[in-house]
Amino acid sequence: ADPDPVEDFCVAAPGAGASNASMAFPFLPCKPASTVVPDDFFFAGHARAASTDNPFGVGVTPGNVDAFPGLNTLGISINRVDLAPGGVNPLHSHPRSAELVHVEAGEMLVGFVSTDGKFYSKVVREGESFVIPRGMLHFQYNAGTAAARAMTVFNSQLPGVVIAAQSLFGADPEIPDAVLAKSFQVDGDTIKLLKSKFRNG
Ligand code: GLV
Ligand code: MN
Repeated sequence: ADPDPVEDFCVAAPGAGASNASMAFPFLPCKPASTVVPDDFFFAGHARAASTDNPFGVGVTPGNVDAFPGLNTLGISINRVDLAPGGVNPLHSHPRSAELVHVEAGEMLVGFVSTDGKFYSKVVREGESFVIPRGMLHFQYNAGTAAARAMTVFNSQLPGVVIAAQSLFGADPEIPDAVLAKSFQVDGDTIKLLKSKFRNG
């Protein structure tokens, strides 16, 4: 989903953050090609699991251009997703990318909802893959009794993520209770309960 590169590579300059990109210049500034070394094309950040010791039981380690500057202009990125038994990578979407979920250990229920409201899901086991079309709300859930691990691969150097519950109930400043209550067809107390779980961490 990203624009095509115009050079072999453009390793992001040190300190260049995604916030420096603009519509006119979608990529990060490159460091001088003469200073590029093999380590610029190497990423060791997925050798270990992120902690799953949180209410969701999930650990996601991003491997986007911010973590892995060598990806700049290449139109790809990769995350590692670890799920404790019963853990969920909660419903979210990526505005700029499709996602290929490749399960490396254990098994995960992986699912997404299409724009016409149809729910597509599969139990995906070790060595198997499932694809999430760009922008669709999706999750991974570990219904098993062992830890599960997947690598998720994107056709964007910076897929972006909108986490549904966090965006709706943890927005800063907050979305008015009346808007959420009417949108979800529930009362204000229900919204207050949900906000209590997602606001201020
Ligand atoms: C999984 O859905 C991920 O976004 O890494
Ligand atoms: Mn995802």
